[in-house]
Amino acid sequence: MTTYILRCITCKKEFDSQPGLYYCEDCGKIMGTLEVVYDYESIKEDPVVREKKFDKKASMYQFSFLLPTISKLQLDEYVGGTPLYKFDLLGMKDVLVKYDGSNPSSSYKDRASSIAINKAIDEGNDILFCASTGNAAASLAMLNAYTDMKTYIFVPAAIPDGKRAQLEISGAEVYAVEGTYDEVYDLSLDLGLEKGWYCRHAAINPYLLEGKKTGAFEIVIQNDFEVPDYVFIGVGDGTVVSSLYKGFWEFREIGLTDKIPKIIGVQAEGIPAIKEAFEKGKPYKPIAIDGSTVADSISVGKPRDVIKACTYVEASNGFFISLTDDEILDAIKELGKTGIFAEPAGAVPYGGLKKLIYEEKITESDTVCLVITGNGLKDVNAVKDAISKTIFTTEEVIKRFEE
Ligand SMILES: Cc1ncc(COP(=O)(O)O)c(C=O)c1O
Ligand SMILES: [Zn+2]
Repeated sequence: MTTYILRCITCKKEFDSQPGLYYCEDCGKIMGTLEVVYDYESIKEDPVVREKKFDKKASMYQFSFLLPTISKLQLDEYVGGTPLYKFDLLGMKDVLVKYDGSNPSSSYKDRASSIAINKAIDEGNDILFCASTGNAAASLAMLNAYTDMKTYIFVPAAIPDGKRAQLEISGAEVYAVEGTYDEVYDLSLDLGLEKGWYCRHAAINPYLLEGKKTGAFEIVIQNDFEVPDYVFIGVGDGTVVSSLYKGFWEFREIGLTDKIPKIIGVQAEGIPAIKEAFEKGKPYKPIAIDGSTVADSISVGKPRDVIKACTYVEASNGFFISLTDDEILDAIKELGKTGIFAEPAGAVPYGGLKKLIYEEKITESDTVCLVITGNGLKDVNAVKDAISKTIFTTEEVIKRFEE
């Protein structure tokens, strides 16, 4: 197995991996999130890396040389390997669109849940728990449904029906709790850590970002090792945006590319916590704001991966932007014209690109990738205005096409 150590994002103290160690106690749960650090010099010598033996359609486990787990589930063969489309969009040619709604549970979160389950098996833990705005929980519940392991799920009661249905039919033990995601997170984290259950919270368990970074690896190999200038991604707790930076950074570190794209984190104007923390500048600090948005998946007022998100986005020379709910809903509808149906948080990269083109910060000569993190079928209610209620009689249809 690939060897690695853990390193605190703030004080840089290093730790050996051990069950139950999720963060640096000296720095705390938010300032002390950990990075997984590999021996990159030896990974350069891995035959897969040396010979660039990659498969554009294979699962994320083709990158095992940069993953921290040993165990394998049957479903793992279907996690990742999602399509990278090229569309002429918004006046730009060949915009790359990484569509992760085609994962087994229909969101990007499968990349992290798969790692969580395998890591729990590696550590001999057969109970997992997760608090989530919806997708992480749905993903864990679905991927874990066929194992013998127990799944406890904690979600805000208001999650969309599609995600709730995924939870219920998976057989997980579901606690839909009154309150916000931030409240449910605190409740479940205290409970789960005290009980010793395996923690599937990407913002605190450092290994989960490792699964998520494979999206960046796939963008590179599927685009024939051409790294785009910009990558857009929706941001809630801040792990996915951090993972993309780490993925592009690692591929450069092991010599597969020579560039890191500018990462553009897209938030909702109703609750732009990480954007605010970033714009306050260094040293980056945890933040708590109130607010809400139609994009439930990124409705996070107390982001937990805020330090990594700000640090990594800055290192990429990127930045954060935010969209109004109307801009998010328009993004879903306009992106739909490509054949991709995204949930609100999945469509924000499109809205973000539109905004930066309008502001002339991005021009036709730039290369861009949009990462679409969730399938629109999870939250059809968000676009209920777009669903026509018109019903025709048979006669009306025949008449319509007569002559
Ligand atoms: C569809 C979707 N997009 C984006 C995100 C944001 O991810 P993160 O919380 O890691 O910032 C989430 C998180 O739940 C999500 O479900
Ligand atoms: Zn520390």
